[in-house]
Amino acid sequence: MKPAITYELIKECPHTHARAGRIHTPHGTFDTPIFMPVGTQATVKTMAPEELKAMGAGIILSNTYHLFLRPGAALVKEAGGLHKFMNWDRAILTDSGGFQVFSLGDLRKITEEGVTFRSHIDGSKKFLSPEIATKTQMDLGADIIMAFDECVPYPADFKYTHESMELTLRWAQRCKDTMTSPNQGLFGIVQGGMYKDLRIECANRLVDMDFPGYAVGGLSVGEPKELMYDMLDITLEHLPKNKARYLMGVGTPDCLAEGVMRGIDMFDCVYPTRVARNGTAMTWNGRLVMKNAQYEHDFRPIDENCDCYACRNYSRAYIRHLVRVNEIFGLHLLTIHNLHFLINFMKKMREAILNDSFPEFYHRFTANFSFNAK
Ligand code: GUN
Ligand code: ZN
Repeated sequence: MKPAITYELIKECPHTHARAGRIHTPHGTFDTPIFMPVGTQATVKTMAPEELKAMGAGIILSNTYHLFLRPGAALVKEAGGLHKFMNWDRAILTDSGGFQVFSLGDLRKITEEGVTFRSHIDGSKKFLSPEIATKTQMDLGADIIMAFDECVPYPADFKYTHESMELTLRWAQRCKDTMTSPNQGLFGIVQGGMYKDLRIECANRLVDMDFPGYAVGGLSVGEPKELMYDMLDITLEHLPKNKARYLMGVGTPDCLAEGVMRGIDMFDCVYPTRVARNGTAMTWNGRLVMKNAQYEHDFRPIDENCDCYACRNYSRAYIRHLVRVNEIFGLHLLTIHNLHFLINFMKKMREAILNDSFPEFYHRFTANFSFNAK
């Protein structure tokens, strides 16, 4: 039987490890490298599915942790699954809940069996395990589901990181043993903190277990960017070329370009949608803080070269006004622009890979882009 999720390698950059491909799912095929907008609570905040489709989004991400707490997987299943519940008929990936539970800090306790935690909503006691996270994700029905892992904090010593990686590997096997759905693909997650030998070992052992795709987890947790790039380099060397590779929780333009250059196919991050709701627009030069006085009389669009709905119809001055008076439409327009920007950014990288000009793209981008706000 054909696996639910397959990766098709189309072209490798001759100068870097960047690659253009395609991922086939039961809810359609999308081009890679790709950015996945985050829809934590079964909605990409402020966005209608039609708007996401109009900008070319092929897959979105949602979160087991949040949907497990509210409204519960049983209700989503009763609705006919997450696609039907939220009226999204393209691909969906759900994260396993591991990362969200670990972000709760003192509110959680890890054992071999799983994680006991207190709900961030009402403080009630909850339990997630590899089996529960996998069954919940089978009920939700996303195309790609993730193994239940422990994301090690930064910094962490070798002994803790090693034991945690062993636990993540045992949990990955339990997820695999629980996963029986023929219409979904379960991805393994490489952990191992900031230790190269642990990253290599974790990658090798997950590859031996044979997943349809692999994620790199435990990065962008507060470590210097150079350290993250070193971990990515070493991890990707040990992942197979014929499977999808997903860098979890990364989505600033500089990190996307660095990730693609190293051979990552999929990314997700709340960054574009979160900063939009803070009144920030993303551009090829860096961030624009829309409430700044410099935009008061600026009747140009956010980006003259952007063909998103916000840039085709509205000025910086208007969006600045909406942000200043706290009108929801301003945050909606900025969300549209930021997601359109990142989806287009990935498309440009893919075109460059296909044209053998990825190094030129990378140099042009880094020469113009500054992470800091303007
Ligand atoms: N999102 C960002 N990082 C991680 C990670 O390490 N594990 C999981 N499950 N989700 C993530
Ligand atoms: Zn725009």
